[in-house]
Amino acid sequence: MPSAPPAAAPDVVLVVDFGAQYAQLIARRVREARVYSEVVPSTMPVAEMLAKNPKAIILSGGPSSVYADGAPSVDRALFEAGVPVFGMCYGFQLMATTLGGTVDNTGAREYGRTPLAVSRPGSTLFEGTPAEQSVWMSHGDACSAAPEGFTVTASTDVVPVAAFENDEKKLYGVQYHPEVMHSTHGQQVLEHFLYRGAGIEPTWTPGNIVEEQVAAIRAQVGDKRAICGLSGGVDSAVAAALVQKAIGSQLTCVYVDHGLMRKGETEQVEKDFVAATGANLKVVDASERFLNALAGVSDPETKRKIIGREFIRVFEQAQLEILQEEGPEVAFLVQGTLYPDVVESGGGEGTANIKSHHNVGGLPDDIEFQLVEPLRQLFKDEVRLVGSELGLPDVIVQRQPFPGPGLGIRIVGEITKERLDLLREADAIARQELTAAGLDAEIWQCPVVLLADVRSVGVQGDGRTYGHPIVLRPVSSEDAMTADWTRMPYDVLAKISTRITNEVADVNRVVLDVTSKPPGTIEWE
Ligand code: XMP
Repeated sequence: MPSAPPAAAPDVVLVVDFGAQYAQLIARRVREARVYSEVVPSTMPVAEMLAKNPKAIILSGGPSSVYADGAPSVDRALFEAGVPVFGMCYGFQLMATTLGGTVDNTGAREYGRTPLAVSRPGSTLFEGTPAEQSVWMSHGDACSAAPEGFTVTASTDVVPVAAFENDEKKLYGVQYHPEVMHSTHGQQVLEHFLYRGAGIEPTWTPGNIVEEQVAAIRAQVGDKRAICGLSGGVDSAVAAALVQKAIGSQLTCVYVDHGLMRKGETEQVEKDFVAATGANLKVVDASERFLNALAGVSDPETKRKIIGREFIRVFEQAQLEILQEEGPEVAFLVQGTLYPDVVESGGGEGTANIKSHHNVGGLPDDIEFQLVEPLRQLFKDEVRLVGSELGLPDVIVQRQPFPGPGLGIRIVGEITKERLDLLREADAIARQELTAAGLDAEIWQCPVVLLADVRSVGVQGDGRTYGHPIVLRPVSSEDAMTADWTRMPYDVLAKISTRITNEVADVNRVVLDVTSKPPGTIEWE
């Protein structure tokens, strides 16, 4: 199988990661300035960095001292290649020491919000920003003399050289962290470096991303066919919509309805997605099959395994049917891999082939797909912007996360059709009320959980009831790794509770989960 041609290559700014947690954030800030950026490790040889033809290079923060044992360094050649460079914090100190400036191990630490005095208000970095501004510092050593040829443009009470600039060589540096919100003019300073210092045009817009990716996908897929599994989530929907725009009817999307979806979700994919994209969609209704396989199972891990296994079987059966259709070879599988996944797994180039899991579904042994991953360069919020640019409705692109195994892991106890229907009703009510109260953006997600194995006594009308509790689990989070329970308005909670107990038969209590993560997880299972 031929290897994939390289993905479209926009003008790139490299962010060299010196091990601080700030490199990804810097890359995001560069992209907010509508310039494409990528994170590379500081161990990458300079020649390899330059081979990427970067329009500029940013050196991130990192360990506290350039004098520490084993502290990462930088090859002087990086500053001599004619590529504009911006050093931040540790990157600034490396730049200073490498080019002959002085960094003292003064022991005078600066940490947190610090007033910065700008001494050259018209400089490339600081033009149009106040003479005094608040910046975020986090360092021990301090630069006392800039390298030759550099102008000192700002200082603090503790650090005589808090920023320096060399317009001739296009080298710039600041002691602080312009990428964090606490640096009040940080984004402006970063943009000044990109636009004024490095002369880069802000052209990385959703429209351009779509154009570039469409061209790259066409080049990669040619006249072959591709398939894409849709989960109902944002990433697969946007990836599919991009590929659909590029190759039209050569793409077939497969959506497996496992019967564990929320109310209206399958219809959303069937109607809204198809209406917005015109994609060929194969919907496989496998709900009976999943229910049969899950009958009698209460253990969460076993449920997950069964759902995963059945999913692959059904998906592969659908693939097989597509492979048997008349038409060009089906050689590509579309996946919605995002940039943070790429960075976390060490940043490959994306030409991997994957073998389909042919051990379970009866696919021929030699089926190999090449991956099409049009979102590999994007952060989640950029994926949403691209989705909107492609005309996908908000109900799809602004969706909160929802687990692949669906409501199957939100029923504590055995899964039955009746229980699923009950949970779907309760969940729909909670979602309606959260949306009506304008809380969707504030809440990361709000699992609605049925405690199917619990019953408690209640009273309704003039009779006693013996019904199930429903748990509301609204959480606030940045990335789902940690979370806190959302302090929701009581009147919204009251409304949800009243509606659920009135409208959903067999539910007589609604309870609120007030546990953070850790120790609790977001899902109950
Ligand atoms: P927990 O429950 O571990 O969940 O705090 C963290 C986040 O992951 C989601 N989640 C899943 N997403 N497949 C998914 O695509 C899964 O199997 C799965 N399990 C949990 C969960 O909704 C939350 O956003």
